[in-house]
Amino acid sequence: MPFDAGNATSKPVTAIYPGSFDPVTNGHLDLITRASNIFGKLIVAVAHNLEKDPLFTEKERVEMLETATFKWDNVQIDVFDGLLMDYARAKGASVIVRGIRAVSDYEYELQMAMMNRKIEPDIETVFMLPAEQYSYLSSRLVKELARFGGPTKDFVPPNVHERMSTKFK
Ligand code: PNS
Repeated sequence: MPFDAGNATSKPVTAIYPGSFDPVTNGHLDLITRASNIFGKLIVAVAHNLEKDPLFTEKERVEMLETATFKWDNVQIDVFDGLLMDYARAKGASVIVRGIRAVSDYEYELQMAMMNRKIEPDIETVFMLPAEQYSYLSSRLVKELARFGGPTKDFVPPNVHERMSTKFK
C-alpha cells in the first residue's frame, strides 16, 4: 500500500531523542541543536534500563544533560523505562530522532527504526547527521580516553569533562 499522507498536519511536532547518554558528548549536543531548530519540542530521553553497565548513574546522566542544554527553551530532559514506543505515545510525540555518524551506524539504526514502526506505525524515525567533526565521536571512546588519562576536553561539554575527571581520579 502506498504511503498515505492523509494525516499530515501543520501542528508543532514533539520529537524524542532517546539514548544512553553515558555521558552526553558534543556530538549529541550538535544533534540536539539541529533537532531543536526543526521540532516544536524536543524531549531528550535517557534510557533507564541499560543492558550496558553505565559509568554514570541515571541521575548523573540527566544532570549533565540538563546543565548542557539549559539554554534551549524547547528542550526537555526526561527518563524513560520500557518500550520507547509506549513512552513516545504517552508523550504525544510523533517523531523519534536518531543520529547517524557513519554507514556502520545504519544497520542497527535501521533495524530499530523498522521494529519501532512495526510497533507504532504513526511514529516516524528521523535520522539526522551530526557535524563532520563529530562523525567519529562516541560516548564509549570518550570514556576510554578518560580512563587512560587522554584528552577529552574537546569532545564533551565542560560539566561532563569535570565529572569524568573526578570519576577517573
Ligand atoms: O544510545 P543508545 O544506547 O544507542 O540508545 C538505544 C536506545 C536506548 C534508544 C534503545 O535501546 C531503546 O529504544 N531502548 C528501549 C527499549 C525499546 O523500545 N526497544 C525496542 C527498540 S527495537
